[in-house]
Amino acid sequence: MSELKGRKVVLGVTGGVAAYKAAELVRLLGKAGADVHVVLTEGGARFVTAVTFQALSGNRVWTDLWDPRMDNNMAHIDLTRDADAILVAPATADLMAKLAHGLADDLLTTLCLARDCPLLVAPAMNRQMWEHPATRRNGAQLVADGVTLFGPAAGEQACGEVGLGRMLEPEALCEAVIGFFQPKVLAGRRIVMTAGPTFEAIDPVRGITNSSSGKMAYGLARACEQAGAEVTLVSGPVALPVPAGCTRVSVKSALEMREAVFAALPGADVFIGVAAVADYRPANSAEHKIKKSGAEMSITLTPNPDILADVAGLPNPPFCVGFAAESRNLDEYSEGKRKAKKLSLIVGNLVQDGLGGDDNEVVLFDDAGRHPLPKAPKPDVARDIVAHMARLLPKN
Ligand code: C5P
Repeated sequence: MSELKGRKVVLGVTGGVAAYKAAELVRLLGKAGADVHVVLTEGGARFVTAVTFQALSGNRVWTDLWDPRMDNNMAHIDLTRDADAILVAPATADLMAKLAHGLADDLLTTLCLARDCPLLVAPAMNRQMWEHPATRRNGAQLVADGVTLFGPAAGEQACGEVGLGRMLEPEALCEAVIGFFQPKVLAGRRIVMTAGPTFEAIDPVRGITNSSSGKMAYGLARACEQAGAEVTLVSGPVALPVPAGCTRVSVKSALEMREAVFAALPGADVFIGVAAVADYRPANSAEHKIKKSGAEMSITLTPNPDILADVAGLPNPPFCVGFAAESRNLDEYSEGKRKAKKLSLIVGNLVQDGLGGDDNEVVLFDDAGRHPLPKAPKPDVARDIVAHMARLLPKN
């Protein structure tokens, strides 16, 4: 993935135990395409050496305000001139206090004061330090000054205590940075989505399902959340992590999915049906495991409700988006489903290699016609769908 391609991130590492996680963060940011330049405070250098960060970032590490390597002795200004953001992770209580008061007594604090790019701060400290009124005041002041705080999270701390103050995990921080750079085209929107396959029980251990991986839906939920939406993901059984900031409601069958969708729907602006809902379910699910008899057996199937059509058929429906996976006649079938289910938008794709791949090539159909999107990894396709959907939504 290259979601941070072309972005320069200055990463400030201060003196907290979580500094060891900053090494992994550098690797993840780099993997996402970012050019990472690490600035290490004196305290940070006590936990992890500059050599580690240099090896992982592929860039020189900066520690000293008076570093002679910068020709003009202007490290405090030059380092952030073309940066897209400064991220301080971990940020100690001391660093937050300094930032809140505009102190600039080392390279990192000076860079933060002299910057003309966004400042992102990931606090990491003991829970009592985090809860101290002074830290609360400093945090509130930073937010009022336009600084973005990522976390902290709750959990077990290095000191053995449990509470708020842990730095977000490197994966979550990398996600937060990627999300920070996304245009907030869905700000203030509430979105309900379905995801994954459904599982229609034949008996307590067997069932009918399909090979939907949920990747497209989860990618779309992530893109919607990063575009500023509040997202509820009603998901069939898949082994995928819930995208940061999204709420997952786990279901199995189509009937459970329908019930969960209607429970989540009040107040939603958008409903997106991505799930590969089983068209049929066994008419009777056996209470106990069916024993092998050697004789032929048949299962009577009964049709499932069409969740998307039911939502779109409501008196005041949200903006409804559907997906159509077809093996031929993409335009005809997709457009047919859009009209039949009364959808504002349908995302059609030709399934030649089955469901579950990492890339996707889709065509969007709406009242204005067909809009093919370039074949791309699912996260990129998701962003393109979000951008198109945002343009069609009624103004809020
Ligand atoms: O008709 P088809 O199943 O191909 O339609 C696909 C679209 O309808 C998808 O958006 C899917 O999530 C939705 N759908 C649904 N409930 C069903 C069947 C499909 O919400 N029972």
